[in-house]
Amino acid sequence: MGRSVRALAPAKLNLALAVVGRRPDGYHDLRSVFATLDLADDVRLARHTRLEVRNTVDIGPGEDLAARAVRTLAAAAGREAHAFVRIRKRIPLAAGLGGGSSDAAAVLRGLAALWGTEVDLVRVAAEIGSDVPFFASGAPVALVEGRGEVVRPLARPREPLHVVVVRPTLRLKTADVYAEHRADDRGALAHVDALAAAFATGAVTPEFVRVHAANDLLAAAMRRSPAIASWREAAAARGIALAMTGSGPTLFAVADDRADALRMARILRRAGLRARPHLVAP
Ligand code: C5P
Repeated sequence: MGRSVRALAPAKLNLALAVVGRRPDGYHDLRSVFATLDLADDVRLARHTRLEVRNTVDIGPGEDLAARAVRTLAAAAGREAHAFVRIRKRIPLAAGLGGGSSDAAAVLRGLAALWGTEVDLVRVAAEIGSDVPFFASGAPVALVEGRGEVVRPLARPREPLHVVVVRPTLRLKTADVYAEHRADDRGALAHVDALAAAFATGAVTPEFVRVHAANDLLAAAMRRSPAIASWREAAAARGIALAMTGSGPTLFAVADDRADALRMARILRRAGLRARPHLVAP
């Protein structure tokens, strides 16, 4: 038996996300505060005579980001793309929680350890997908810019930050939400900058995160999927503000503490939403 390595692949929340502009290559430039969550896939890697990726769920059509991570790192390190990858999935798919990107980053980090290569993982990550560099950086919180390739690590909050994550019963394709985005869906940029500054100085509080949890993709996601607006209305009627992560449809509420998170999760579940308390940047 060869050596194997295990890597945890955490989910992320975009605590605030601004779309800054459209690029000539069709992608959008962003500025966003990313943070990891205490919800993670489990990734195991071992040497192998070919490339084999096993996943506990069927990730559907399209190229598997984990396989792409093996190929991209192999090309950068001048090696054959041979590896055994086993992913135990806990992060819901196509939810805005970055599960596939985090798996890919865990593959990069684990494989770099197994192979003993010292290539710049954040740069390799940018070739795989927009959210992969954040996860490859290993930062618990970061200000992310460009398409996602510019990652500035920020400090973890001094006090634990509790949230309630509302998991959707539907999936949204990132590309579809960006295609629906209009140039006048703006306003989150000042919130992103305020939040990044607060994390940088360690002055962040739950109330501050709640006030600045803006997302320029929310309007596009709601046009694409009107269910999102009805979930937010149901929560608002019970005094709970739901923000959106990434291109959705996962929503989240920022809690004052763990007791508040449990209380809000109970209220949201009674309203028919799939809500669970989580910890940010654990
Ligand atoms: O990079 P990733 O594969 O995650 O992006 C999926 C799709 O989302 C892209 O094909 C693009 O249409 C859109 N996108 C974008 N701007 C970004 C990230 C993604 O337009 N910064």
